[in-house]
Amino acid sequence: MAIEPKIEIDSLLEELTALAKISEADPPVVTRVVFTEADLRARAYVRSLCDGAWLTVQEDAIGNTFARWQGSEPELAPIGTGSHIDAIPNAGMYDGTVGVLGGLEAIRSLRRAGIRPRRSIELVIFTAEEPTLFGIGCLGSRMMSHVLTPAAALNLRDKQDRGLDELRTQAGFSGAFESVALLQGRFHQFVELHIEQGPLLEQEGIDLGLVTHIAAPASLRIHIDGEGGHAGGKLMPGRKDALAAAAELILALESAAKSSGAIDTVATVGVCEVFPGAVNSIPSHVNLETDIRDTDGARRNRVIDALLAACSDVSARRGVTVTTELVNADPPATCDPAILAAMEASAQEAGRSCKRMVSRAYHDSLFIARIAPVAMLFIPCRGGWSHRPDEYASPEWIAGGVDVLARTLAKLAG
Ligand code: GLV
Ligand code: MN
Ligand code: MN
Repeated sequence: MAIEPKIEIDSLLEELTALAKISEADPPVVTRVVFTEADLRARAYVRSLCDGAWLTVQEDAIGNTFARWQGSEPELAPIGTGSHIDAIPNAGMYDGTVGVLGGLEAIRSLRRAGIRPRRSIELVIFTAEEPTLFGIGCLGSRMMSHVLTPAAALNLRDKQDRGLDELRTQAGFSGAFESVALLQGRFHQFVELHIEQGPLLEQEGIDLGLVTHIAAPASLRIHIDGEGGHAGGKLMPGRKDALAAAAELILALESAAKSSGAIDTVATVGVCEVFPGAVNSIPSHVNLETDIRDTDGARRNRVIDALLAACSDVSARRGVTVTTELVNADPPATCDPAILAAMEASAQEAGRSCKRMVSRAYHDSLFIARIAPVAMLFIPCRGGWSHRPDEYASPEWIAGGVDVLARTLAKLAG
């Protein structure tokens, strides 16, 4: 017989709101960069909620947090769920947090319904899903899944040249980086609840997205060295303006993504630093940070190749030096058919509409897919807006997602 979890949406919303107030910026802006004072207070708050739910909490050497509800057969690999609580500057209150606090409420609802699962259910709060500090996303799950080696992790530096080791130690985490990597099979299966961060579910009036694929993200840094000078005195012939060269590269990237032949190809230049940044001075140096994604890894790589070709061309034509640094180029992930089937059956039992879709955003599940079968459950968000303060998911959408997550966890945990 199907279980009927009762989601306590009012207390879940209170918890989401309390978490949102733990921010480096004034409400409604959520800014919570990993290892800042706000991140540490947010971790303590979530931990107190996990303690209150009688979960056994453990943290690894970089602060990935595991909160376990022990099953009746604790020797079996657990079912994992969870997401992240760090937030990019000027963000909203639902990205990641719905998967963490919603995952916790799913566990509590199963306990209230008198369920005792065979497998343990483990809530995971991943460290630094957002790339703000080190320029690389999904730090915690990257290290768990062996994609980022301990040696490479030691080399990560923030803009103030502080290393991961220093920052995690100051934040109170210790232990060998080697111990963060997990064994294959550490999770029997993993399900992540998240807001869609796109407009489709809301536009189509569908309650839930069942994610079949997670797009492959890549990031490339570009440094352009030209020649500075007086904006009045230096005539146009012979200029080596680094920002004019950057402008060509930005448009070349846009054009490569638009002409890939697929709607799934997207490319963005989200960072453009100009030196010296004075109105009457020709830019001598520019740093660009690019973000290139596709559900098809090979097609994504062709856009990277087109960008690299444009770098050589612009460098030769304009006499500027262009150097590139590939930060990451991860393959896409395919979600597990058995978890998708369990989510679909759960949605049907709960009377919620659903559709299969791809995730164009990346998530920790992209990396956990390397060590366990994964799938993701999306709920709508207003206007598809995310990574901005007016990000919004209605109580009804959240309650529906948590209800279906709880039913799915119960099925998977047996
Ligand atoms: C995650 O936040 C992403 O940028 O997809
Ligand atoms: Mn995000
Ligand atoms: Mn997220």
